[in-house]
Amino acid sequence: MKVLVIGGGGREHALVWKIAQSPLVSKVFCAPGNPGIGTIAENVDLAVDDLPGLLAFARREGIGLTVVGPELPLSQGIVDLFEEYGLKVFGPRRNAAIIEASKAFSKELMHKYSIPTAAYEVFSEIAPALAFVDRLGAPIVIKADGLAAGKGVVVAQSRDEAHAAVRDMLSGNAFGDAGSRVVVEEFLRGEEASFLAFTDGKNIVPLASAQDHKAVFDGDLGPNTGGMGAYSPAPVVTPRIHDIAMREVMRRAVDGMAAEGRPYRGVLYAGLMIDGDEVKTLEFNARFGDPECQPLLMRMKSDLVPVLLAVANDDLSGVTIDWHDQAAVCVVMASGGYPGDYRKGFPIRGLEAAAQVEEVVVFHAGTTRQGGDIVNSGGRVLGVTALGPTVAVAMERAYRGVKAIHWEGVHYRSDIGGKALDR
Ligand code: AMP
Ligand code: GLY
Repeated sequence: MKVLVIGGGGREHALVWKIAQSPLVSKVFCAPGNPGIGTIAENVDLAVDDLPGLLAFARREGIGLTVVGPELPLSQGIVDLFEEYGLKVFGPRRNAAIIEASKAFSKELMHKYSIPTAAYEVFSEIAPALAFVDRLGAPIVIKADGLAAGKGVVVAQSRDEAHAAVRDMLSGNAFGDAGSRVVVEEFLRGEEASFLAFTDGKNIVPLASAQDHKAVFDGDLGPNTGGMGAYSPAPVVTPRIHDIAMREVMRRAVDGMAAEGRPYRGVLYAGLMIDGDEVKTLEFNARFGDPECQPLLMRMKSDLVPVLLAVANDDLSGVTIDWHDQAAVCVVMASGGYPGDYRKGFPIRGLEAAAQVEEVVVFHAGTTRQGGDIVNSGGRVLGVTALGPTVAVAMERAYRGVKAIHWEGVHYRSDIGGKALDR
C-alpha cells in the first residue's frame, strides 16, 4: 500500500519514520516533507493547504491511506474532501476538527459535558473582557479563539499584561481573525501532561503518556512556543490520573462530540493540568502533538499502520497497542529568537555525528536544502530524540546528539526530561 503523509515538521518526520517500517507499506510520500523526511520517503512539492492539489496527487498515485499531520488542512475539511472521492484518510472531519480550531467551541463542549476545565468566559468586545479580567485578577490566561500555531495563549502575570493581551487580540493586531474572539480563563496551577488517544468515535485507545515543554527557556520561563521538547512516559500520569483522564476527559469528549452530531475520529489530544488528584483540561487538539509524537512513536512497538487504518475504517474495536518499556526524550533545537523573529539560512553541521549516537534519531522540522547544505528554515528546526532504559539515560543520549549539532544562533532547552527525574 502507498501512504501519503501531509505536513513537513518533526511530527511528520516521526510519522513517516514509523509508517515506513510497516510491512503493509510499499512506499511513503510526504507533502511537502523536508530534507530529513526525503531520506526515507518521497517529498511531494505540495503545500498542506493545497487541498485540490493533494487530492489530485492521491488519486493519481493510488494512495491507500492518507495521514494528516497538522491542524490547518483538518480545519479546512481535507478529510471530508478525500472521503467524497472514496479515499481512506486518517483524521477528524471538519465539523470535529473544530474542537481545536475554536477554543470557544471546545470550552463550551467541556462545560456542556462536564469535562473538568478552568472557569472562563468568551468575549468579542474589549470593554467587557477587561472588566472580567479585573474581576478574576492576575495571574489570568487570555486565549485567541482560532488557530495560532500554539502561540495564541498569554499567561498574564499582571493585570496590565492581561489588558494588553486582550487589546492586542481583539483589536486584530495579534493573530488577525484568529483573535477576533478571546477566551479569558482562570489560571490553573499544577503540572501539565499531553494525553493522546486514538478513537473511531466510540472506542478509545490511549497512547502512552507524554509531557511537553512549552516555554522557550529552561525552568519553564519565557513565552510559550509550539513545544521545546517532550518525553514519554510522563510519571505525573499515574495509573489513577490515567483512569480519571480516560473517564472524565476522553470518554466525555468523544461521547459529547457524537451527541453534538460531530463524531470525532482520529487522534484526540487533551492538554491536561494535573494538581494532586485533580485533572483539568487546558485544551483539545485534533492531531498528534508536536514534539510529543516523536518520543511516542519511538516507544511504539506495534505497527502504527493497522491502527491508522482501523480508525479510517471506523472500527477500532479489538485494537491494542504495545509499547517499549524504554523511555524516550526529544530535545527541540530551535532558531535563535524563536518564537519571535529569527534568522534563517545558516548551514547545520554535525547531523551525521548526532545520528551515530546510540538510540538517537534526528527528526527534521524546519530545515531546507540550500546548495550542498541543510540550513535552518523554521522556528523549530530539529527534534533530537533518544530511547533509553530510563528517562535519565534517554536524556543523556539525546543531549549527546544535540551537542554534536551546531548552526549560528541555535537555541535549545537544557532541562527536557528534568521533571521526570524530579519525581
Ligand atoms: P493551550 O494552547 O490552551 O494549551 O495553552 C498553551 C499553554 O498555556 C498550556 O500548555 C499552558 O502551559 C498554558 N495555559 C493554558 N491555559 C492555562 C490555564 N488556565 N492556567 C495555566 N496555564 C495555562
Ligand atoms: N506540543 C503541543 C502541540 O502539539 O500542540
